[in-house]
Amino acid sequence: MSDSPKQQIEKLREEIEQHNYNYYVAAQPLISDIDFDKLMKRLEALENEFPEFKDPHSPTQRVGSDLTGGFKSYPHRVPMLSLANTYNFEEVTGFWQRVLEVAGKEEVAISAELKFDGLSIALHYHNGYLEQALTRGDGLVGDDVTANVRTIRSIPLKLRGTHIAEDIEVRGEVLMPFAEFERINRERQDEGEDPFANPRNAASGTLKMLNPEVVSHRHLDAVFYYLFEEEHNLSTQELALQRIAELGLKSSPHAICCHSLEEILDFINYWADKRHSLPYPTDGVVLKVEDKSLYEALGTTAKSPRWAIAYKFPAEQAKTKLENVSFQVGRTGVITPVANFAAIPLSGTIVKRATLHNADFMAALDLHEGDWITVEKGGEIIPKVVSTDPTLRDPQAKRIAFVSLCPECGTPLIQNEGEVAWYCPNKEGCAPQTKALLEHFAGRKAANINIGSETISQLYDLGFLRRVDQFYTLTPQQLAEITHFKDKAINNLLRSIEASKARPYESFLFGLGIPFVGEKVAQILAKAFPDIEQLAQASSEELEAINDIGNKIAGSIKEWFAIDRHRTIIHNLQQAGISLSTNLSEKKEQVSTTLLNKSIVISGTFEHHSRDEYEALIVAHGGKRTGSISGKTSFILAGKDMGPTKLEKAHALGIPIIGEEEFLSLIGEKEE
Ligand code: IVH
Repeated sequence: MSDSPKQQIEKLREEIEQHNYNYYVAAQPLISDIDFDKLMKRLEALENEFPEFKDPHSPTQRVGSDLTGGFKSYPHRVPMLSLANTYNFEEVTGFWQRVLEVAGKEEVAISAELKFDGLSIALHYHNGYLEQALTRGDGLVGDDVTANVRTIRSIPLKLRGTHIAEDIEVRGEVLMPFAEFERINRERQDEGEDPFANPRNAASGTLKMLNPEVVSHRHLDAVFYYLFEEEHNLSTQELALQRIAELGLKSSPHAICCHSLEEILDFINYWADKRHSLPYPTDGVVLKVEDKSLYEALGTTAKSPRWAIAYKFPAEQAKTKLENVSFQVGRTGVITPVANFAAIPLSGTIVKRATLHNADFMAALDLHEGDWITVEKGGEIIPKVVSTDPTLRDPQAKRIAFVSLCPECGTPLIQNEGEVAWYCPNKEGCAPQTKALLEHFAGRKAANINIGSETISQLYDLGFLRRVDQFYTLTPQQLAEITHFKDKAINNLLRSIEASKARPYESFLFGLGIPFVGEKVAQILAKAFPDIEQLAQASSEELEAINDIGNKIAGSIKEWFAIDRHRTIIHNLQQAGISLSTNLSEKKEQVSTTLLNKSIVISGTFEHHSRDEYEALIVAHGGKRTGSISGKTSFILAGKDMGPTKLEKAHALGIPIIGEEEFLSLIGEKEE
């Protein structure tokens, strides 16, 4: 019995909503964009055929939303529409022909541009000054991310050029360049955090951060392709792009004006390959009618204009044979399944493995031994297994199940409530967990001991190094047992271990590997509890009273310090001569002249020090704190929630605003 149209519609809606969830919420899409669009198109077609089943809650009725809360939202002056996606040249040809028909001409000019893979942004400039930046949101209302956007260096706070209209709105895309994406992911992995799946997620995650100071350390970029400026006759897209550049904004690079379908297809073919050498991510080409006087006649649908379309580059896919699924144990005991397959070239690299993320992702794929699988590398830098082909499967092949015991130590795995991940709870006796923790402790941002993972592994296997404090009891005799370790290597390592004792308290706090205590949280904790004993004794309430510390982190800290073995580690580290405390007063006396002759205004609320402490630091480094902003002010040390009047005055006088982190690194209080 086949399903009735109503049942088909309902099933499709459910399926699409699940994929929406996988994509937007879980950040783990299980199908390709093309397949997703196919489902949407099928649902749209059914709903059109059977209008009696139309429903305002259907996924076809929603324009995607990026509203997150935590930000004030404001309406867009003109709705921010999206574009209809196309995936093949027939559809592009269809667009070209429709436009010709409406224009009643043999030829029209079409602007061909790259489709940048970031998130859209609308900037509002008033009298030439950046006044507001809104995300697309649901198309009608967007999140006000002005404070974050102000940190993007390529976005001018004041427009250049002459005859600037009173109100200007310019739209474009906030992007994360590949190099920055890789840098941030390395940093996140160092801190035991999950890496971002792709630069787009990284850009959007960054722009939605509540602390602009952190945003300023992630170097976002932005390009612009759309301008509303009354009083200027921007009759074509080409003129609009020129005007955007004149105003001092980065206008959509590599755009060209095409006069034939052939030119359009050439542009697409050229960039399909060439885009791999661009420093930022792109996922297609956008085609727009040049002549804006045609817009009205072409019209818009509910979601997108008919005067523009997006052509999306196909994600590169390849079929290969699954060799096996291995299960990796991470530092925190999380088990990650990994598909190992026969090596294949994909988008310029050779791939032979791909993460399967977790048990749910793996179950959805329904992998069997020796399966032919399809691997894809699209906007995602990381290859992913998108499907398996059951028709090519040996009928005898066994389904591959997620493990129930730790593959390394045999301990039964556990799952925390509300999480999909499975953990090996054997924190002390599971070799890869301990080895990873030892590596983490020795890492550059923690104790900074110059030792490789292979050496750590050998010392562990020899039984000399099973806890982080045992770095400090290693003897030359023990080190001599490491393969190829001679006097020089032994001395270098011992010297590096000795030098590590001078690392700051916050670095050790990070190095201990307390779950959810990354580098940043460790810094916050070290400031709030200048001695580790205070931290160990802190109640959940005291912990949660600190900015950025929620109950998850607080709970994890309490749990960690409740374990005797951990108290022993702390005791032993202190015995080794490591000071697990911060002494701010000492630093205040280390006078420098970095801020000599500078008058500095302090404004807003701070995370790392009180205002009084900042005043003391300014004085200690030769500067002077003044109460109000004037032409003589050298810069403003601004925390969160700097008052709007001060902000305005600072902009009017062109006085630089420096965030907390930047200030601390300026006076050398913090290492980058
Ligand atoms: S024009 C009426 N041009 O793609 C819509 N959009 O799917 C005007 N995008 O929301 C958009 N590069 O975030 C346009 N060169 C480009 C683009 C571009 C990326 C994004 C934009 C838009 C989405 C549409």
